This record gives sequence, C-alpha cells and structure tokens, in this order.
Amino acid sequence: MPAPKVASTPTLPRPIRYQPAMETIGDHEAKTIQGLIETMDRIQTIVARDTGRAKRGVHAKAQGLLVGEFEVLPDLPPMLAQGLFASPQTYPAVLRLSTIPGDVLDDAVSVPRGAALKIVGVNGPRVPGSEQDATQDFLFVNGKAFGAATPDAFLRTLKLLAATTDRAPGLKKVLSSVTRGLEKIVEDVGGQSATLLTLGGYPAINILGDEFFTQGAILYGDYIAKLALKPFSDNLRALTRQKLNLSGHPDGIREAVVAFFQTNAAVWDIQVQLCTNLKTMPIENAAVVWPETESPYLSVARLHMPAQNAWRADKVELVDERMSFSPWHALAAHRPLGAIMRVRQAVYAAAARFRMDYNHQARVEPRSAADLPA
Ligand code: HEM
Repeated sequence: MPAPKVASTPTLPRPIRYQPAMETIGDHEAKTIQGLIETMDRIQTIVARDTGRAKRGVHAKAQGLLVGEFEVLPDLPPMLAQGLFASPQTYPAVLRLSTIPGDVLDDAVSVPRGAALKIVGVNGPRVPGSEQDATQDFLFVNGKAFGAATPDAFLRTLKLLAATTDRAPGLKKVLSSVTRGLEKIVEDVGGQSATLLTLGGYPAINILGDEFFTQGAILYGDYIAKLALKPFSDNLRALTRQKLNLSGHPDGIREAVVAFFQTNAAVWDIQVQLCTNLKTMPIENAAVVWPETESPYLSVARLHMPAQNAWRADKVELVDERMSFSPWHALAAHRPLGAIMRVRQAVYAAAARFRMDYNHQARVEPRSAADLPA
C-alpha cells in the first residue's frame, strides 16, 4: 500500500551569524571609488550638457513613480524577524521604477530595469552618514546577481557605458535590435550575457511582471541576506514576460505602468534569502548567484500600491527630481556588506549632489507620510 501523503512544510535555513572578519576591504577601494565618481560625473555632465538638465548617472529614466504602504508580515520566525522586520508594522513607502542607462533613451533600446524602494518613518540606530534620516532604502535590479564581481570590474564596464552616453538614439536603437538578436543566440546556448543585456539586448516585456533582486548582500540583524521584490497579486503575476510593443513607443514601458495603475491596485512580495554558507554565498563577490537550493527566498513583507497616477507632475518633481535612493539610507541593522555595496556609499552621494547642484534643487529625504505626495 502506498504511504499516505504528508503535506510538506518548508524547512527553514540555518543562517550564519555575521562577524566583521567576514568582510575584507581591498587595497584599491578608495582609488576605485574615485574612478567611479569621476566616471559617473562624466556621464552626468554629458547628459546635462545635451539636455540642460542633470539626471542620475545610471537609472536616469524613471518608468513609474508609486506611493503606497510597506507591511511587515506578522508571526515571522526569529531568524526573519530582524531589524526593520522585527515587528509587524506598516510604513509609508515610495517605489521608483527605472531603466539602467544614464541617459533617457527611447524604450526601443531595451535594457535591464531597476526598482528603488524607500520605506519612510523607520526608527533605530543608523549607518554612518545617514544618522539624520528616517528612511530605509532597498535598491533592486531585475537580475539575481550583479554583472561585475568587483568594483574594479564594474568601473571598466561603466567607462564603456560612459563612452556610449551621447545623443545618438538612432544608433542605439540599431545596437539594441542587433544585441537582442545576439542575446537570443546566447540564451539558446544556455546563458545570458550581462554585457549584451546592458547594451540593449533585454527582452521588450512589461516591467510590472519582473522580479527584482538586491544582488549585493546586507546585514539582516544578526545575519546576512539578499532581498527580492516579486509580483504577488494575480494582476502583476499575469504580466510576467508579457510582451510590449516598444517600436514607435519611446516611453512604452512607462505608458504600460501608467495604464495599469489607472485602474488597478497591486501587491509585491518582499523576500529574504539568508546566507547559510560563506563559500557558496560569498559577501565580497556580488556576481555570484546564491543557490536557492541551499537557502530559498522567504516572504517577510508586502508592498501595497493603490491605483494612482504613476506619472503625475508633483510626483515627478518630488520623487524623480528631488529624492535620492541609496542602500546607505539605512538602519545599522541593514548595513550594506561587501565591496560592491561599500563603494556605493560615496558614489551615490556624489551623483545625487551633482544633479541637485546642477538643477538648483535641494534634496528631499522624507520623514513621514506628510512629506510624500498624496
Ligand atoms: C559598484 C556598484 C554600483 C554603483 C557604483 C552604482 C551607482 C549608482 C548611482 C550613482 C546611481 C544614481 C544615484 C543618484 O543620482 O541618486 C544609482 C542608481 C541606482 N542603482 Fe546603483 N550602483 C551600483 C550597483 C547597484 C546594484 C548592485 C543595484 C541593485 C541590484 C543597483 C541599483 C540601482 C537602482 C535601482 C538605482 C536607481 C535609484 C533611483 O531610482 O533613484 N545599483 N546607482
């Protein structure tokens, strides 16, 4: 007689506790940070010169701006109830969807996407440089690992991107369709090429169906983790890999977001992957995908976005122009970890300063719901 079926409960991972010796600061980090700041500055200078307006050095094009609520789930087991997630509270939150280049391109140049989340009104000890803030930012890109293992390797890629930052969208469109073809070939032989994707080979699909990942590690209270932001409500899941016709629609990605949120509310799932093995889940190399067979992503919070105008003028002014998102707007319990995450601290601050100064604006770091668009 066959054995009776028993419902399987997911076994919780056994996370390792963070210790400072787990991080190693490279000899050249300060020099690389300087190189990154200079290269971002070069990209921002070209765009500002050509358009009269300073933009973010990467992720310049916003593809939707959403204001809603971040809900920490109740009854989390102790290993997940850490830092911001220690108690089941609801916070105001802002989400800025973006595409990664430092210039605002026609969406026919299809590239990877970002999602920057700012949780507002959080309390607790903070990381250096963010002592005055009351926010916790998490920045995600729609790939499981970063394209470069080290800040030096990223600096080399960024220099290439800086060289393609110009006002030749026609050229980039051609490049995009060519790289999309090449990407198909790469996919067919079993892999995805980060370089090709960056240069415009990303599939033309709805951003609202994408899954996003922090790629780099953060402190997760006593532990170490990566985070993910994934479609949760059925209406978002239905958009996964939904094709968009982007030819002749230079802002087609944003148009799809605006059309959706005109009549729909939506929910994203926030998940945590705890580090259980420093060999297979390294902190210092952000290019390694942490194996989900060893430690799965587990739900810890939900991001609720009501129906709204995702591209209203007051939101553009406040969120796109005057806010900055950085993994270093953080609680001490969620300090960014590893080389890629460390170097971001100074680079984000410098890039935000560049655009605020150039555009004669003051940066806004919200403290409560009263500082957000209604
Ligand atoms: C060495 C590595 C990295 C560097 C130097 C870097 C640099 C930057 C800079 C300068 C900005 C613009 C900031 C501003 O003007 O306000 C930015 C934006 C952004 N970055 Fe990174 N980044 C790095 C890695 C990553 C990683 C690993 C992720 C996530 C997986 C990420 C996600 C984002 C997102 C989503 C934005 C847009 C933020 C917004 O909407 O304001 N970046 N990055």
